[in-house]
Formats: sequence, C-alpha cells, structure tokens
Amino acid sequence: MENETRVPEAALPLAAEEIKRAVRERYTQVAQRSASCCEAPAPEGEARVAQYGYELDLLGPEVPATVVESFAGCGNPLAIEALRPGEVVLDLGSGAGLDCFLAAHKVGPAGRVIGLDMTDAMLGKARENQRRLGIANVLFCKGEMEAMPMAEASVDVILSNCVINLAPDKDRVFCEAFRVLRPGGRLMVADLVTEGELPAALRTLDAWTCCLGGAIPLEAYVAALRRAGFDPVEVVEATGWRPGVLSVKIRAIKPGAEGKGGKAA
Ligand SMILES: C[S@@+](CC[C@H](N)C(=O)[O-])C[C@H]1O[C@@H](n2cnc3c(N)ncnc32)[C@H](O)[C@@H]1O
Repeated sequence: MENETRVPEAALPLAAEEIKRAVRERYTQVAQRSASCCEAPAPEGEARVAQYGYELDLLGPEVPATVVESFAGCGNPLAIEALRPGEVVLDLGSGAGLDCFLAAHKVGPAGRVIGLDMTDAMLGKARENQRRLGIANVLFCKGEMEAMPMAEASVDVILSNCVINLAPDKDRVFCEAFRVLRPGGRLMVADLVTEGELPAALRTLDAWTCCLGGAIPLEAYVAALRRAGFDPVEVVEATGWRPGVLSVKIRAIKPGAEGKGGKAA
C-alpha cells in the first residue's frame, strides 16, 4: 500500500500508542474543563457552536451548558447533507455528544445514533448530557475508530468532527468506515488538513493532541478515502484555519447501491 497518508517520520517520532495515550489525556481534561482543546479561530464552546451554524434550538428552549462547553469540533458535519428519518448514524469520536443529539433529532424515533469514543470522561459527559436532554435514540459506546465494534454494512451514515486527524493510522480508520457502512452509505466529515507538508512548528505531541500535528495534506486525505473504496469523494468546503492548515468538510460514498449514494432530495 502507498504510504502517503502516513505522517513523515520527522513528524511522528512516537509510537501510535503513545500518541493515543496523550490524546486520551487531553480529552479527559477537555471533558473536565481543566484544559482547552485546541487553539481555533473561534473560542470554544458556545461561541464556536454558534459560528458553525448549529441548530441548537432543536434540542429545546434551554440547552444545558455542559452540552456545548466541551465541544471540540472544527466544523459542522451535519451541514453537509440532510439526514433522513429512520437512518442509522455512527459518530466517530463523539466527544460530549452534540452532533449525536442533533443527528438523533433528524433521524427521529425510527432511527438511531451511535456515538463512539475512546475516552471515558467524554463518554461519561455525553451520557449525562443525554440524560439531561431526555433523548432516547442515542447509544454511546466505548471503542476506537481503528477497530469499530460494529457489524459490516450496519450503518447508513458516518459522521465525524475533528477526530480523524488524531488517528496515527488514517488508512485503517477509512477501511473500517468503509466496512461498517452499507452500500450507498455516506461518510460526512469535518476535519483539519494541511496545505502541503505539516509546518515544522506543529511536529510536537502537544500539537498532535490539539488536532494539528496529525493533520495530513488534503490530497493525501482524499487519496486515502479513495484507496479505502469510497467513490465519489467530494471536498464540499475548505476554509483557512491557521497558516498552512485548512478546515474541510468532505462527503464520501460507499458505492454499491444504485441510486442510494446521491444527494438527498
Ligand atoms: C477534538 S475532539 C472532538 C469531539 C467531538 N467530535 C466534537 O465535535 O466536540 C476528539 C474526540 O475524539 C476522541 N477520539 C480521539 N481518537 C479516537 C479514536 N482513535 N477512537 C475513538 N475516539 C477517539 C477523543 O476522545 C475526543 O472525544
């Protein structure tokens, strides 16, 4: 397999498990509000959620602060394409649960949403948020997106918001996403990528846990999705995040079901 999505050696002097340990530590602190997630053009929490056009009012007249305060996304994957009633949705790296709760509203009582995350503190916060919001059709599961605890072809839509950049092995994540999606199923992802090679200043473990150090060039990201089998792969939006880094929204389809991979009517 081509190696273009693997981070160049200078950028990855650490073992994958060491990176994951640091990522877990960072997002435990983000859940507990004892550390910030990442520098971003917008501040954290509510202001960032507002900037991305999230329809928070769908969650009720008074959304508890805990639902948005640990939000650590870099876009709004739900804005890529409408979810349909009855769909099964999987959110990779679901954090405190915001995207899951809104997705649950869109798929309605006949659909369901699974939030997958590897950090206990985030899962605990998401479950508590779910209880406060009184949402029934979401299940938060502990697991890693490199080995999703899901059956083959069991999911209609995969969402992910600023998470895949954190994976040391992105090819593995995309292959797993392809496996669990049904034919015609779609991946709708918001993430950070680089324009060209990763700036040298970002080749640190700290930058990695802040969603920057593991970012790969946009072309490599798209190529990895294609290599996993997705077709078409569409860059829906790309905007500047900081010099050399873009925030992107990508839509990718698992081929195979005639007429099912197209855009929602
Ligand atoms: C930057 S935060 C984004 C959280 C959420 N998507 C949001 O928009 O607020 C990254 C989340 O992904 C989780 N995560 C990171 N790597 C993961 C992996 N390999 N498998 C599962 N979850 C992971 C972290 O625990 C954290 O909750």
